[in-house]
Amino acid sequence: DVIREIDGLKELEARVEKLLGIPEVIIVSGDSGQDPLVKREMGYAAGRVIRERFAGGVLAVTGGTTVATVAEMIPANQSGYAIEVLPARGGVGENVEVQANTIAALFAAKMGGTYRMLHIPDTLTEEAYQFFLEDSSTKEYLQSLQRAHMLVHGIGQAITMAKRRGGSKELIDLLKRKGAKGEALGYYFDEAGRVVHAMHSIGLRMNDLPNVQLIVAVAGGADKAEALLAVARGSRQDVLITDEACAEATLRYV
Ligand code: BG6
Repeated sequence: DVIREIDGLKELEARVEKLLGIPEVIIVSGDSGQDPLVKREMGYAAGRVIRERFAGGVLAVTGGTTVATVAEMIPANQSGYAIEVLPARGGVGENVEVQANTIAALFAAKMGGTYRMLHIPDTLTEEAYQFFLEDSSTKEYLQSLQRAHMLVHGIGQAITMAKRRGGSKELIDLLKRKGAKGEALGYYFDEAGRVVHAMHSIGLRMNDLPNVQLIVAVAGGADKAEALLAVARGSRQDVLITDEACAEATLRYV
C-alpha cells in the first residue's frame, strides 16, 4: 500500500469512486488494453476481492476475456465452504474460452466448488426467449441465479460487443442511433446511463440485481472509459477493478 500511495493510485481511486459513485475502486497501474500483463494484474486484484469477500453460496460470472483472466489468475485454493458457480448468461456464440460456461467451470475448479452450465444462446428471438422462459429446468436455473451472493462481470464497448455477438446491421445502426456506449449483462447504455437496448437472453436481469449482495465489475483499458461511464451511470456497482489508463481516461471524459 505504501507503493500505491507513492504512485498516486490511492488518490486516483478516490477520484474515480466519487465520479462514478462506486464505493470501492481498485486500480492497477498501466493499460490492460495495450499490455496483457496489466490485464493479468487486474485479474489478480479481482481474484483477491473475490477471495476476501465471497463467503460461499452462489457466485455468478459473465464471460469475456477480462473475467476469463480473473478465473485464470485467482489462486487455486479449496475454500472451506460450499460454492456453486453459475454462468450469469448463456453466451453460446462467443469463442468457447471466453464463454461464461467455461469460465464458471474454471472458477469452480480453482475454488473447490461445483458449477452448472447454461446451454442457451445469448442472442434469442422473442419467440425463443419466451419458449425458454417456460421451460421448467430453465426456471429452476434462474431461481438459483437470482440467489447469487456475488456477481463478477465485465463491461464492453457497445458497438464492439454487438459485433462480437454477431449482431445484425439493423441492430448496430439502432445502437449507433440511440447513442449506445457501454454494455454489461446484455444491456446497452447511452452516455447518460439510460438503457437503450436489452438483449433477449436468459440469465441475470437488471431486475435481479438488487438481490445480489456484491456486484463486482472488472474492466480496463483506455478504450473502455466511455463504456465504463455509461454502465456506472446506469447500474449499481459495488466494487470496480480497473487500470490506470481507463481511470484517467474516464476522468478526462467529464
Ligand atoms: C461479456 C460480458 O462476456 O464480456 C459482457 O457478458 C462484457 O457484458 C464483455 O461487455 C467484456 O468482454 P471483454 O473481452 O472486453 O472482457
